[in-house]
Amino acid sequence: TRRVRTRDLIAAKERGERWPMLTSYDQYTAGIFDQAGVPVLLVGDSAANNVFGYETTLPVTTDDLLPLVRAVVRSTRQALIVGDLPFGSYEEGPTQALRTAVRFMKEGGCHAVKLEGGRRCAAQIAAIVGAGIPVMAHIGFTPQSEHTLGGYRVQGRGDTADEVLADARAVADAGAFAVVLEMVPGEVAKQITHELPIPTVGIGAGPDTDAQVLVWQDMAGLRTGKAPRFVKRYADLASTLTEATRRFADEVRGGEFPAAEHTF
Ligand code: KIV
Ligand code: NA
Repeated sequence: TRRVRTRDLIAAKERGERWPMLTSYDQYTAGIFDQAGVPVLLVGDSAANNVFGYETTLPVTTDDLLPLVRAVVRSTRQALIVGDLPFGSYEEGPTQALRTAVRFMKEGGCHAVKLEGGRRCAAQIAAIVGAGIPVMAHIGFTPQSEHTLGGYRVQGRGDTADEVLADARAVADAGAFAVVLEMVPGEVAKQITHELPIPTVGIGAGPDTDAQVLVWQDMAGLRTGKAPRFVKRYADLASTLTEATRRFADEVRGGEFPAAEHTF
């Protein structure tokens, strides 16, 4: 077995084959997702929420993410690992963006990077791709811009569909190998998927994108509470872990653990 390459993903689109993508931030989940055959894992800046406990993705830094990137790379053999450039690490322009992308590749050991923004980040994408680093773009709702976008809202409804379409064309023209479409109407995602030569990766973008991505704690039901409409929970890890924790605590308090077989 060998690592998935960006050209494999473009070839899959040409064959009409869909693929799954998940976030991962640590050894065990990365190993499980890799063994289960998920071809692309994203060390998302959503680690801000899902690992570090922040309210938004804005506070997380490159120095926070690089150790997680290294862990995921070390724990996988097949998946292509994408490192997510955090807020503040690429907006200044192509020079800053390339410097950060090089850190992710060199210090993180990942195989591609991702950044948010369409037309406004085309120069950054071109500079990174020009240095030999594959870039996954991310348009539609971009969480790092939530204060400008007015919170978690669908982008590209009605008249503004043309804006998302223009962003999609811009990132493909700049050399991105794939593009995440977050919270855009299904019909808009379908049109972009049809038009672009590169794979589209949907999250809240309907059934017609080339790939689908979810945050793993959402997919596996580790995160509790109200989930966004686009989330489907494939397990109830929060309940499983709560139950295991209660039993462990009860058995310690009751003197049942450790038993003879756990004792030297
Ligand atoms: O950081 C993240 O988790 C993401 C995906 C959901 C696309 O950017
Ligand atoms: Na992200």
